[in-house]
Amino acid sequence: MNQYHNPVAISFGAASAASFAEKLQKSYAHVSRVLILTRGGEVEKNGILQPVLDMLGHKEILQLEVTLYNPNVADIYNLKGQVASFDYQLIVAIGGGSVMDVAKVLSALQRMKVHSVAEVREAIASERYREEYPYTPWIGIPTTSGTGSEVTCWATVWDEECNSKYSVSDARLYASDALILPELTVTMPLRLSIATALDAMCHATEAYWSIHTNPITRVYALQAIERIRITLPLLLEQPDQLALREQLSLASVLAGLAFSNTRTTACHSISYPLTMLYGIDHGIAASMTLASVMRHNYDALIEPDKLLSAYGAADVDEVGLWVKRIYETYGLPGQLGSYGVTDEGIRKVVSLSYTKGRMDNNPVEITAEQLEQMLVSLM
Ligand SMILES: [Fe+2]
Repeated sequence: MNQYHNPVAISFGAASAASFAEKLQKSYAHVSRVLILTRGGEVEKNGILQPVLDMLGHKEILQLEVTLYNPNVADIYNLKGQVASFDYQLIVAIGGGSVMDVAKVLSALQRMKVHSVAEVREAIASERYREEYPYTPWIGIPTTSGTGSEVTCWATVWDEECNSKYSVSDARLYASDALILPELTVTMPLRLSIATALDAMCHATEAYWSIHTNPITRVYALQAIERIRITLPLLLEQPDQLALREQLSLASVLAGLAFSNTRTTACHSISYPLTMLYGIDHGIAASMTLASVMRHNYDALIEPDKLLSAYGAADVDEVGLWVKRIYETYGLPGQLGSYGVTDEGIRKVVSLSYTKGRMDNNPVEITAEQLEQMLVSLM
């Protein structure tokens, strides 16, 4: 499919903030009530909240701190209840992937009546939210660089009780606008910086080989991969360097634009149970199988030399070595066993790895046997 579409208006860098504010005031002049979702500590550290309030002008504001990571169906039920009496017309999400995920889910579910966690689960799992109209518009201001959620139209909702992970997905869930300020990411802890950069690396790489890949996606993907490959090792030495943060923020957006049209593939699909069962950070869990899946997909790759070149690698082994060096430099374990995964656990991970719309998006089928071998080799 050689078509590409992404409707998000992106403002990048501090120099774009004034025109972003102007646009905001014009586009949302009719809006009187705004729900602002924040990651509490982060907005205090990076001082973005007041400038956003100034941009919005005289509107009624409800600020809700989203303190959780990886929101699940119960979290969504609780958060929805907390803002139910505030008839918001616009959502502004200032934070990382979880905050933007909450913004998207509240956008889709705002007008839906739900009276229990079970009803939220049903509405999401059955995609009944898609019958709702209209969704609430939302704006993304990321404080991390990696999820790309500000330019994609889906959100992840977890359900540990049912050992499941759902995707709330609809073309109406794209943000209307995104403001990317790399300065906001300087206060990110280094471990989160690494995990989110590796997440973006997987988004770009999986977009490159997805069955829905297209020439425009691949250009974005290669640009993102090369920037992360060069910048991330430097960031480990100089985490306060704004120029490096700018490169990673840009790479995250490029990776987001790439996979916004393809979604992710096997690496992400396998990562979900690793995160759900063993608490492995999303980006780290996805990157653990990056080289193995690349090796598995190799014969189906379009212009594999370009992908390897973006990694600065002569072969797939060198891609694996790049990932390994990132883990080692920060002291992150690269073996599944170090995260408590057992032989028995591998079988469970295999059984939960086949997420619809992700694993079947991989260009080469991975059988359960092959996946088990792949995971055993990572023990
Ligand atoms: Fe991801």
